[in-house]
Amino acid sequence: MDITKQKVFEIVVPNVAITRSIALTLANLLETGIILLLEGNLGSGKTTFVQALGEGLGISTSITSPTFTLIDEYTDGRIPLYHMDLYRLDPAQVKHLHLQEYWRGIDFPLGIVAIEWSERLGMELADYLKIELSLQKSDREEDLDRRLIKFKAQGDRSISILTSLERGIILTS
Ligand SMILES: Nc1ncnc2c1ncn2[C@@H]1O[C@H](COP(=O)(O)OP(=O)(O)OP(=O)(O)O)[C@@H](O)[C@H]1O
Ligand SMILES: [Mg+2]
Repeated sequence: MDITKQKVFEIVVPNVAITRSIALTLANLLETGIILLLEGNLGSGKTTFVQALGEGLGISTSITSPTFTLIDEYTDGRIPLYHMDLYRLDPAQVKHLHLQEYWRGIDFPLGIVAIEWSERLGMELADYLKIELSLQKSDREEDLDRRLIKFKAQGDRSISILTSLERGIILTS
Protein backbone atom coordinates (compact mmCIF):
# COMPACT_ATOMS: atom_id res chain seq x y z
CA MET A 1 0.00 0.00 0.00
CA ASP A 2 1.23 3.48 -0.84
CA ILE A 3 1.51 5.41 2.41
CA THR A 4 3.27 8.44 0.90
CA LYS A 5 2.32 11.50 2.88
CA GLN A 6 0.74 14.45 1.13
CA LYS A 7 -0.65 17.79 2.17
CA VAL A 8 -2.94 20.11 0.20
CA PHE A 9 -3.67 23.79 0.79
CA GLU A 10 -5.84 25.94 -1.47
CA ILE A 11 -6.37 29.66 -1.59
CA VAL A 12 -8.29 31.96 -3.93
CA VAL A 13 -6.40 35.20 -4.54
CA PRO A 14 -8.11 38.32 -5.92
CA ASN A 15 -5.16 39.88 -7.71
CA VAL A 16 -1.52 39.63 -8.70
CA ALA A 17 -0.32 41.53 -5.62
CA ILE A 18 -1.62 38.75 -3.35
CA THR A 19 -0.06 36.07 -5.57
CA ARG A 20 3.23 37.91 -5.25
CA SER A 21 2.97 38.28 -1.50
CA ILE A 22 2.36 34.53 -1.13
CA ALA A 23 5.43 33.84 -3.28
CA LEU A 24 7.46 36.25 -1.12
CA THR A 25 6.31 34.47 2.04
CA LEU A 26 7.26 31.13 0.49
CA ALA A 27 10.70 32.44 -0.49
CA ASN A 28 11.55 33.00 3.17
CA LEU A 29 10.68 29.40 4.02
CA LEU A 30 12.54 27.66 1.22
CA GLU A 31 15.62 25.53 1.76
CA THR A 32 18.16 24.14 -0.68
CA GLY A 33 17.03 21.13 -2.66
CA ILE A 34 13.33 21.97 -2.68
CA ILE A 35 11.60 21.29 -5.99
CA LEU A 36 8.64 23.45 -6.99
CA LEU A 37 6.40 22.11 -9.74
CA LEU A 38 4.35 24.88 -11.35
CA GLU A 39 1.26 23.89 -13.29
CA GLY A 40 -1.61 25.81 -14.84
CA ASN A 41 -2.73 27.15 -18.21
CA LEU A 42 -0.94 29.75 -20.31
CA GLY A 43 -1.07 33.05 -18.48
CA SER A 44 -2.23 31.59 -15.17
CA GLY A 45 0.72 33.17 -13.35
CA LYS A 46 3.53 30.59 -13.07
CA THR A 47 6.31 32.94 -14.19
CA THR A 48 4.82 35.78 -12.14
CA PHE A 49 4.97 33.54 -9.07
CA VAL A 50 8.62 32.60 -9.72
CA GLN A 51 9.56 36.26 -10.31
CA ALA A 52 8.28 37.25 -6.86
CA LEU A 53 9.89 34.16 -5.35
CA GLY A 54 13.22 35.24 -6.87
CA GLU A 55 12.84 38.71 -5.40
CA GLY A 56 12.16 37.11 -2.03
CA LEU A 57 15.35 35.08 -2.36
CA GLY A 58 17.23 38.34 -2.88
CA ILE A 59 17.94 37.80 -6.57
CA SER A 60 18.57 41.18 -8.16
CA THR A 61 18.64 40.05 -11.81
CA SER A 62 15.18 40.28 -13.32
CA ILE A 63 13.66 36.87 -13.90
CA THR A 64 12.24 36.27 -17.36
CA SER A 65 10.25 33.39 -18.80
CA PRO A 66 12.55 30.48 -19.71
CA THR A 67 10.23 29.26 -22.49
CA PHE A 68 13.04 29.50 -25.05
CA THR A 69 16.15 29.19 -22.89
CA LEU A 70 14.58 26.14 -21.10
CA ILE A 71 16.77 26.59 -18.00
CA ASP A 72 17.87 29.83 -16.35
CA GLU A 73 20.22 29.89 -13.38
CA TYR A 74 20.20 32.71 -10.82
CA THR A 75 22.99 32.54 -8.30
CA ASP A 76 23.04 35.98 -6.68
CA GLY A 77 20.33 35.31 -4.08
CA ARG A 78 20.23 33.67 -0.65
CA ILE A 79 19.97 30.27 -2.39
CA PRO A 80 20.56 29.52 -6.09
CA LEU A 81 17.38 29.38 -8.19
CA TYR A 82 17.11 27.11 -11.21
CA HIS A 83 14.08 28.11 -13.28
CA MET A 84 12.86 25.82 -16.04
CA ASP A 85 10.01 25.80 -18.53
CA LEU A 86 9.14 22.50 -20.20
CA TYR A 87 6.26 23.84 -22.33
CA ARG A 88 7.92 23.12 -25.66
CA LEU A 89 9.16 19.65 -24.70
CA ASP A 90 7.81 16.16 -24.32
CA PRO A 91 8.99 13.72 -21.63
CA ALA A 92 11.40 12.00 -24.05
CA GLN A 93 13.16 15.31 -24.73
CA VAL A 94 13.09 16.25 -21.05
CA LYS A 95 15.06 13.09 -20.30
CA HIS A 96 18.01 14.49 -22.27
CA LEU A 97 18.15 17.61 -20.11
CA HIS A 98 19.37 15.55 -17.12
CA LEU A 99 17.41 17.74 -14.75
CA GLN A 100 18.25 15.39 -11.86
CA GLU A 101 21.68 17.07 -11.79
CA TYR A 102 19.96 20.11 -10.28
CA TRP A 103 18.73 18.24 -7.24
CA ARG A 104 21.68 15.85 -6.89
CA GLY A 105 23.88 18.73 -5.71
CA ILE A 106 27.12 17.43 -7.26
CA ASP A 107 27.57 19.26 -10.56
CA PHE A 108 25.60 22.32 -9.41
CA PRO A 109 25.31 23.84 -5.94
CA LEU A 110 21.98 22.74 -4.47
CA GLY A 111 19.29 25.35 -4.86
CA ILE A 112 15.60 25.79 -5.46
CA VAL A 113 14.38 24.13 -8.65
CA ALA A 114 11.23 25.75 -10.07
CA ILE A 115 9.74 23.92 -13.04
CA GLU A 116 6.95 25.43 -15.15
CA TRP A 117 4.82 22.95 -17.11
CA SER A 118 6.06 20.14 -14.88
CA GLU A 119 3.31 17.92 -16.36
CA ARG A 120 5.93 17.29 -19.09
CA LEU A 121 8.56 16.08 -16.63
CA GLY A 122 7.77 12.39 -17.03
CA MET A 123 9.45 11.31 -13.81
CA GLU A 124 8.32 10.54 -10.29
CA LEU A 125 9.73 12.64 -7.47
CA ALA A 126 9.68 11.64 -3.81
CA ASP A 127 9.58 15.14 -2.34
CA TYR A 128 8.11 18.17 -4.11
CA LEU A 129 5.82 21.14 -3.67
CA LYS A 130 3.35 21.46 -6.52
CA ILE A 131 1.76 24.85 -7.18
CA GLU A 132 -1.26 24.72 -9.48
CA LEU A 133 -2.63 28.05 -10.64
CA SER A 134 -5.97 28.41 -12.39
CA LEU A 135 -8.09 31.23 -13.65
CA GLN A 136 -11.48 31.51 -12.02
CA LYS A 137 -14.32 31.70 -14.55
CA SER A 138 -16.51 34.72 -14.09
CA ASP A 139 -18.38 37.27 -16.23
CA ARG A 140 -17.37 40.13 -13.96
CA GLU A 141 -14.47 42.21 -15.18
CA GLU A 142 -13.25 42.80 -11.62
CA ASP A 143 -12.68 39.03 -11.29
CA LEU A 144 -10.24 38.79 -14.23
CA ASP A 145 -7.23 38.67 -11.94
CA ARG A 146 -8.68 36.10 -9.56
CA ARG A 147 -6.74 32.85 -9.36
CA LEU A 148 -7.10 29.61 -7.45
CA ILE A 149 -3.71 28.54 -6.12
CA LYS A 150 -3.61 24.90 -5.09
CA PHE A 151 -0.50 23.75 -3.22
CA LYS A 152 0.22 20.02 -2.98
CA ALA A 153 3.21 18.86 -0.99
CA GLN A 154 4.63 15.38 -1.01
CA GLY A 155 7.45 14.24 1.24
CA ASP A 156 8.44 15.44 4.72
CA ARG A 157 10.49 18.49 3.68
CA SER A 158 7.89 19.94 1.33
CA ILE A 159 5.05 19.17 3.74
CA SER A 160 6.84 21.04 6.50
CA ILE A 161 7.37 24.07 4.23
CA LEU A 162 3.72 24.05 3.14
CA THR A 163 2.60 23.82 6.77
CA SER A 164 4.63 26.94 7.58
CA LEU A 165 3.38 28.73 4.45
CA GLU A 166 -0.23 28.05 5.39
CA ARG A 167 0.40 29.42 8.88
CA GLY A 168 2.18 32.47 7.46
CA ILE A 169 -0.70 33.23 5.09
CA ILE A 170 -3.37 32.80 7.75
CA LEU A 171 -1.51 35.02 10.20
CA THR A 172 -1.10 37.86 7.72
CA SER A 173 -4.61 37.72 6.22
N1 LIG B 1 -3.75 36.79 -9.36
C1 LIG B 1 -2.79 36.75 -10.30
N2 LIG B 1 -1.71 35.93 -10.12
C2 LIG B 1 -0.75 35.86 -11.06
N3 LIG B 1 -0.76 36.55 -12.22
C3 LIG B 1 -1.80 37.36 -12.45
C4 LIG B 1 -2.85 37.48 -11.51
N4 LIG B 1 -3.76 38.36 -12.00
C5 LIG B 1 -3.30 38.76 -13.17
N5 LIG B 1 -2.12 38.18 -13.48
C6 LIG B 1 -1.37 38.42 -14.71
O1 LIG B 1 -1.45 37.25 -15.50
C7 LIG B 1 -0.24 37.12 -16.25
C8 LIG B 1 0.40 35.80 -15.94
O2 LIG B 1 1.47 35.61 -16.84
P1 LIG B 1 2.63 34.60 -16.56
O3 LIG B 1 3.65 34.81 -17.62
O4 LIG B 1 3.06 34.66 -15.15
O5 LIG B 1 1.87 33.22 -16.79
P2 LIG B 1 2.46 31.76 -16.99
O6 LIG B 1 1.55 30.86 -16.22
O7 LIG B 1 3.90 31.74 -16.67
O8 LIG B 1 2.25 31.52 -18.54
P3 LIG B 1 3.04 30.55 -19.56
O9 LIG B 1 2.33 29.23 -19.51
O10 LIG B 1 2.89 31.25 -20.87
O11 LIG B 1 4.46 30.44 -19.11
C9 LIG B 1 0.67 38.30 -15.87
O12 LIG B 1 0.48 39.33 -16.80
C10 LIG B 1 0.10 38.70 -14.49
O13 LIG B 1 0.30 40.07 -14.19
MG1 LIG C 1 5.60 31.15 -17.76
